[in-house]
Amino acid sequence: MKKAFCVVLTGLFLLPAAACARPVEPDPSAYSAAGTAEIPVEILGELDEATLADLVDEPKYVALTFDDGPREDTTAALLDGLLERGAAATFFVIGSQVPGNEWLLQRMKAEGHQIGNHTYSHVRLKTADKDSVVEEIHKAEVLLKEAAGEGSFWLRPPYGALDGQRAALIKTPMVYWSVDPQDWKLLDTEKVVDAVLCAVQPGDIILLHDFYSTSVKAALEIVDRLQAEGYDFVTVEELFRIQGVEPQAGTLYARPDRIKTLS
Ligand code: NI
Repeated sequence: MKKAFCVVLTGLFLLPAAACARPVEPDPSAYSAAGTAEIPVEILGELDEATLADLVDEPKYVALTFDDGPREDTTAALLDGLLERGAAATFFVIGSQVPGNEWLLQRMKAEGHQIGNHTYSHVRLKTADKDSVVEEIHKAEVLLKEAAGEGSFWLRPPYGALDGQRAALIKTPMVYWSVDPQDWKLLDTEKVVDAVLCAVQPGDIILLHDFYSTSVKAALEIVDRLQAEGYDFVTVEELFRIQGVEPQAGTLYARPDRIKTLS
């Protein structure tokens, strides 16, 4: 139904893909605004036409994020495809899956991707006791550092689930998402591509899982389609830098300009 709706809308009215209905409607009460680097209206009015055209032609930025890897075959295929396309991404890695796959993390780092922490055993942090929260994150971080070297490994809480008390224990920024095609449930390349293309807007953080070959194929098709529309694929860290937002430790971001409310 949703796909049909999307096709009808774009076909009849020639609207861009961003005009499609979002497959998962965000709940406005679940977010608050973070700082943004918008161009003040009064300055816009003073710009000449050529400068304005340059601004309009500026690339649109978006961040692809991948959870639940690394997995030898699927993650390697994804890295090959991203390299071919000059697209950067962010990988939220499960610590227990690092041993034996260190080479994949080394590739991620060497090829300009961001590596993040998805806990050691994919635990639901919201219901874990506080010692386990710290241990799960620390244990994964040690493995990430051993494999990829020093760095700040931002956290994506498994299931996006976290409460305020436990968030206070987190020493890095945390990343939620703003587009979720539910690839793990669909397990269908074209449906995942459609769901993302219907929802995506500049500045979005897209959630996918490099654990599934259908998602890897979808991701590469999404890159091809959106690059053709002028999108640049950057890491989450770069997306914050581009938008002039200073990420705060212990804060869960759906996008650089949108904070996910912790419940
Ligand atoms: Ni996960």
